[in-house]
Amino acid sequence: MLQTEDIQEYFRQSREAAKRAYNPYSHFSVGCVLIDQAGKVFPGCNIESASYSATLCAERVAAAQAIAQGSRNWDSIFIVSPSGVSPCGVCRQFLFEFAPQLQVYLGTLTTDEVRGPIALTELLPMASGLQQAVIQAQA
Ligand code: THU
Repeated sequence: MLQTEDIQEYFRQSREAAKRAYNPYSHFSVGCVLIDQAGKVFPGCNIESASYSATLCAERVAAAQAIAQGSRNWDSIFIVSPSGVSPCGVCRQFLFEFAPQLQVYLGTLTTDEVRGPIALTELLPMASGLQQAVIQAQA
C-alpha cells in the first residue's frame, strides 16, 4: 500500500515529466510516472507529431520506456494534466497487455486534487488480453 508521501512524490515527478511534453498542436501537457513492483520509476510525457495520429500519449511513452529497460511488472501509474484526464482507450489497452492489475492515480498540474487508486479493469471492463487472444487462437 502506498503512503501519502509516496503518492505526493510520484505526482511531483509526474508534473516534472509534464514539463517535457512536446505538444505544439494541442498545447495540452500530460506527464506521468509508471511505478514497477520493484519501485522503479519510469516517466512519460506526450509527444505530438505533424502527422497527428502518430502522437504518443504520456502513458504509452512511460510504458515503452519500462519495457525497453526490462521492466514488465507494474504496480501503479500517476498521470497529471491540466484537467486531470484519465488515459485514452488506446493507452488503457496498451497498459492492460502487461499489467491488468495496474492501479491508476489521476491529478492535475496545479491542484492537489487526486482521483484514485482506480483499477485499470474498472477503466477497461471486459478487456481483451493476452490470455484470451492466445487461448482463442489455439481453439
Ligand atoms: N494525452 C496524453 O498524453 N494522455 C492522456 O491520457 C490524454 C491525452 C495527450 C495526447 C495529445 O498530445 C494531448 O494530450 C491532447 O489530447
